Amino acid sequence: MSYDFSQFGGHLGCGSGIEELMDDLGHALASGSPDIRMLGGGQPARIPAVDAIWRRRLEELVHEAGGLDRALTSYDPPMGNLKFITALAKLLRDSFGWEIGPDNLAVTPGGQTAFFFLFNLLAGRMPDGSRRKILLPLVPEYIGYANQGVDGDLFRAVKPAIEETGAHEYKYRVDFEHLEVADDVAAICASRPTNPTGNVLTDEETARLSALAKAHGIPLILDNAYGAPFPGIIFTEAKPFWEPHVILTYSLSKLGLPGTRTGIVIGPPEIIRAIRSMSAIVGLANPSTGQQIMTPLIESGEVLRISREIVRPYYEARCRLAREAAQAAFGDSVPWRMHRSEGALFLWFWFPGLPITSKELYKRLKQRNVLVVPGEYFFFGHDEPGWRHRDECIRVSYAMDEAIVRDGLRVIAEEVKKAFQLHIED
Ligand SMILES: Cc1ncc(COP(=O)(O)O)c(C=O)c1O
Repeated sequence: MSYDFSQFGGHLGCGSGIEELMDDLGHALASGSPDIRMLGGGQPARIPAVDAIWRRRLEELVHEAGGLDRALTSYDPPMGNLKFITALAKLLRDSFGWEIGPDNLAVTPGGQTAFFFLFNLLAGRMPDGSRRKILLPLVPEYIGYANQGVDGDLFRAVKPAIEETGAHEYKYRVDFEHLEVADDVAAICASRPTNPTGNVLTDEETARLSALAKAHGIPLILDNAYGAPFPGIIFTEAKPFWEPHVILTYSLSKLGLPGTRTGIVIGPPEIIRAIRSMSAIVGLANPSTGQQIMTPLIESGEVLRISREIVRPYYEARCRLAREAAQAAFGDSVPWRMHRSEGALFLWFWFPGLPITSKELYKRLKQRNVLVVPGEYFFFGHDEPGWRHRDECIRVSYAMDEAIVRDGLRVIAEEVKKAFQLHIED
């Protein structure tokens, strides 16, 4: 028997790049096989000092009066736990002078869901029949946004300027000259740091995007899944950014709590009310364990210290090792470049002139038990024909054990060399 799906079902129920990615990730982690080099997903590292904090907090919750009840056995209101959002608003107000209170915050089941709500709230088909788009000022951009429109494609993306910053290094920059905010743009959106590249929009680029959004009466959405002040996986001096028309998203995932599915949206009260309403309709309430684990760490400001003193240095050291391993694996054997690493958990490789597509490279690597993500998935919203660059990149996570990353990079270099060599022999 076959079933007819609605348009919504067709868009959301028929597979996507992000599903493939999470499938790879889930199976690799569940298999526990030492042979699989899982460099594909966005799984955060297990940092022992951070894990110890979660253990301590879980024990405290079990013994606190009402702790277990709040974490496991009660529904929270759809807006999120009042104590949690009040504490977070206060921390951000006190630390950065942002003029926000609890009415500016909503909790969602992870950042992913926050984007599903935000994008479909602002863009897509409007009541007058017109269609609105989300403008991505820079691609490649986070694969998880790509298929989120309930009635079709939501994105328009602008090709970046490419700046070569070293023998094997480069950096994408927002090409402001070609960044047009047309009348049908509902919001501008960027992840900072960017997944997949590790690019961090500079303070100046961010302020310029914000001014552009404000001038057009639309919000700027900044995705801080890896950003400042928490989890703070940023290796440049980029400052946390807020203005009244800016929507910020945060998540507890990359701090080390992806299993709690806790996302946070900060924005104008009108947007926040809509997100809370969507939370109630779609899911009644939010998972509360993450909020309960974090509330005292937010009240005391410890979350900022954990981010600054444990999480950021950990990833920065891992990033350095991974870059050295890449340098050793590739040497000068093939054309290759890495994006400058300014944050997040990934190395983003570009192999100029790669004779096979990044998807083919992904398949060959998968056969050798190395999982990466083909770059083409991250170039949605931009369909200029003939831009080969989008088939020449892959994303490699360095959050796994150093030996796994090193070994995986060795295999990647072998397969890339083979692809170039076979092409020459052809
Ligand atoms: C840039 C970015 N935004 C949002 C998310 C969503 O994360 P979560 O739903 O775990 O909060 C991710 C996850 O990897 C991400 O990389």
